[in-house]
Amino acid sequence: MFDWLNRKRVVGIVDNQFGDTGKGKFVNLFTNWADVTVRGTGGANAGHTVCVGDEKYFLHLVPSGVTHDDHQKEHIIGRGVALDPKCLLDELEVLRAGGLACNNLLVSTHAKLVMPYHLLEDRLRECLAGGKKIGTTGRGIGPVYQDHVARLGLTVNDLLNVDLFAQKMMCALMAKLPALRSFDPDVVREIMCHSALGGGKYYESEHAIFNPEAIIADYRLYGERLDSMVCDTDEIVQNAIQNGKRVLLEGAQGLLLSVDYGTYPYVTSSDCSIHGLAVGAGLTMRDVDEVLGVTKAFHMSRVGEGPFPTEMGGEQSRAWCATATRQSEAITFPDANLQSDNSFLLGVAIRKHAGEYGTTTGRARRIGWLDLPLLRHAIRVNGPNLALTMLDVLDECPTIRICTAYTYEGPPVRLGSKMIKTGECLGVAIPDSHILQHCVPIYEEFPGWECPLTDVRSAEDLPEKLMELVDVVEEGASAKVRFLSVGPDRDQTIAL
Ligand code: IMP
Repeated sequence: MFDWLNRKRVVGIVDNQFGDTGKGKFVNLFTNWADVTVRGTGGANAGHTVCVGDEKYFLHLVPSGVTHDDHQKEHIIGRGVALDPKCLLDELEVLRAGGLACNNLLVSTHAKLVMPYHLLEDRLRECLAGGKKIGTTGRGIGPVYQDHVARLGLTVNDLLNVDLFAQKMMCALMAKLPALRSFDPDVVREIMCHSALGGGKYYESEHAIFNPEAIIADYRLYGERLDSMVCDTDEIVQNAIQNGKRVLLEGAQGLLLSVDYGTYPYVTSSDCSIHGLAVGAGLTMRDVDEVLGVTKAFHMSRVGEGPFPTEMGGEQSRAWCATATRQSEAITFPDANLQSDNSFLLGVAIRKHAGEYGTTTGRARRIGWLDLPLLRHAIRVNGPNLALTMLDVLDECPTIRICTAYTYEGPPVRLGSKMIKTGECLGVAIPDSHILQHCVPIYEEFPGWECPLTDVRSAEDLPEKLMELVDVVEEGASAKVRFLSVGPDRDQTIAL
C-alpha cells in the first residue's frame, strides 16, 4: 500500500474538493506509515468521521491518527490551527470515555486561540449578512484568523501566562467593542446566551457585552488542563524529519474552500491547500515529499453557500439544503431513489444513501456530479496523486455523468490580459465566485457499473465500467489515481 512512498519522509493528505471527501480515513490509514501526524489548518469547523472496526469516532480538532492509540506515535495540533480549548477538552473527554487514551497529543504554542468574542462576531456576521451569507459553521474561525492578521490575536501559549492573557484579551475587546455595540442589542444578547457561548455566562450587559472575569476564569482552567501538551511543535516536527522519522500532514476542509485557492469569498479563512498545510505544521513546501489529494467520485458535495456548477437540482437544491436536515428529508422525500431521472431527487437520494449530512453542523450537504474543471484546478495546486473515495455510493446508479468542461454564460469579464467571452468553453475552473456562478457544465454520460463494490478488495475484481471511469479522470485531469475507496473501513481500500 505504501510502496510509492519508498524513502519519502513528509507526506501531506489534503482534500481536493469542498471538504467531506473521506480524508480522515486516509489519514488514519497512513498513520500506520507515519511516526508523527500534524494538523496544520482550520479548527473545530472541521469534522472527520473515522471508522475503526465497529467503532465510529467523530473528530473536530484532534488529529485522526489518535484512533491508532500507539504509544510510539505522536499527534500534533500545529501553529496554523484555530484552537478552541473547550472544544478540544470536550473532544478528548469523549474519546477517552470511548476507550482511546489519546496520549502523545501535543499542541503548538502558536496555535491561534478561539475566544468567546470570535463566536459572537462569526454568528453576528452570518445573522445580518442577508443574501451575502457564507453559511459558516459558527465556530468563530473567520474572526480568529482576522484577529491574527490584525495583530489582535491570542495564542495557546497565552493560556499559560494568565496576566498576559488578560492584558491581550482586554486590548482585543477594547478594539472590538465600539463595532459590537453598533449591532442590535437583542441579537447580540440572543447569540451571547446560545449554548455555544456557555448559555450566557460570558454576557454582562448591553454596554459591556462581555464579562472579562468570567472568560479569564474559564481560560485559566483550560490552560491548566492543557498545560502538559503545549510546546514548540515546530521544533518537534523539524527534529523528527532530521532524525529520519516519517511525518504525515493532515489537511482540513478542502482546496475549494481555501482562502487563497478556493471559490472566494465562499471559503473558510485558512489556506487548506498543501501550501497552507505545510506552513501551519511548522514546515515549508520544500519539506513536503509527496501529496495525496482525496477526491470524492463520482458525486461531490458542498455545505454552506457558494457556487457549485454541477449541483443536482441547481437552485432548488441550494435553497432546500439551506434548512434541510436528515430528519426533514426522510419525511419529505421518503421514496427518493438512485434510479430517479429528476436531478433534484437524485441528489436527495445520493445524500440519504451516502449520509451526506455535516459532522460538525448536521446540515444537509448539497450534491453534484464530479467536476473535472474544478479538479484540474485543484491538481495544479495539490499535485496529481489522487485517492478516489465513496465509489460505492453510486453502485445502483444506471448512468454516471462527469462534467468535462464549462460553457461560460455570464457577461464578458477580464481576467488579467485575457477576456472571457460569453459562450466560451473553459476546461479549467476559475475559482472566483463571480465567474463560477455563470459556468454551465458540459457533461459526458457513461453507463454505471451497477454492482456492489463494498466487498471488492483487489483491482482485478473491479468492474470494467468503473475502471473506464477511472481512466476518464486520469486522462481528463492529468491525474494519477493511487487508491480507490469502496467503503468507510480501512480495509475497504484498493491500491492501484
Ligand atoms: P467557516 O470555516 O466556519 O468560517 O465556514 C466557511 C465555509 O467553509 C462554510 O461554507 C462552511 O460550510 C465551510 N466549511 C468549513 N469547514 C468545513 C468542513 O470541514 N467541511 C465542509 N465545509 C466546511
